[in-house]
Amino acid sequence: MERFVTEKELENEKEIQKTLRPKRFDEYIGQSLLKEKMKIFIEAAKRRNSCIDHILLYGPPGLGKTTLAGVIANEMGTNLRITSGPVLDKAGDLAAILTSLEENDILFIDEIHRLNTSVEEILYPAMEDGELDIIIGKGPSAKSIRIELPPFTLIGATTRAGLLSSPLRDRFGVTHRMEYYTDEELVEILIRGAKVLEVEISKEGALEIARRSRGTPRIANRFLKRIRDYAEIKGNGIITKKIVLDSLELLGIDKEGLDDLDRGIINSMLENYNGGPVGIETLSLLLGEDRRTIEEVYEPYLVKKGYIKRTPRGRVVTEKCREYFKDKE
Ligand code: ADE
Repeated sequence: MERFVTEKELENEKEIQKTLRPKRFDEYIGQSLLKEKMKIFIEAAKRRNSCIDHILLYGPPGLGKTTLAGVIANEMGTNLRITSGPVLDKAGDLAAILTSLEENDILFIDEIHRLNTSVEEILYPAMEDGELDIIIGKGPSAKSIRIELPPFTLIGATTRAGLLSSPLRDRFGVTHRMEYYTDEELVEILIRGAKVLEVEISKEGALEIARRSRGTPRIANRFLKRIRDYAEIKGNGIITKKIVLDSLELLGIDKEGLDDLDRGIINSMLENYNGGPVGIETLSLLLGEDRRTIEEVYEPYLVKKGYIKRTPRGRVVTEKCREYFKDKE
């Protein structure tokens, strides 16, 4: 089963995402409050000829955190360096990146909640005082040296703001939660995407895709590409409402955008635990699925739709969920 709901961009879509990705604020659809704030920060920083404050972006995957960092760098006219928490294994890895930054560059660290402590400790003085403290050598002859860094902006992204240590969280000047997109915003993104991909799409077709995209542009764009194939083979290449409905049914996506794993989660809660409470470890074992995938990628949408609730004793399904899944049998 092909999976459309993922934590990260897939390797084979990097190239196409690059062309679909907006480069400027006037092409970036949605997140209007965030855009407003950022435009002001950028304008003020440019006038002072300095860089903007460190920014922490949090929220479910696929809502455009990396894209936004790219837009900010473009608007500032600076370079964007992209890395991620799990990739920065040793303190030296981060030190190497920091010392290669140019003035006012933007450093984007994805999954920043997964930085290990020794790397995180390098980040504190770098963020706060623009200094890098490193220890060279071992034992009695070890020396601590201090390197001054050019001014830079750190943009940290995380799906789990709660997992950040408080010293790290406190060093961000701006913290912002990314919101799920409305169906209307996703329609705009899809119509723009269809133009880039040179495929014709009807407004009704775009709306049906939007409704099943879990408020997430990454998923909407993935559907768009898959449905384009279907439209070429089974239709005349135009993405109509009927083409959308038929192809998504074939892909196992229901009218709320739920896929096999969503249904697996709900069904195992209903069938094995009469709706819960069920612990995340139990669900992960029952489904043979990574705990983080369930917790960070799948659950936020099920919670947002009001199908499950998180309680101190575990996850429980709601009445609305029982109703929805009753109809399915
Ligand atoms: N593609 C992905 N995210 C987008 C956004 N927010 N605006 C426009 N196109 C996008």
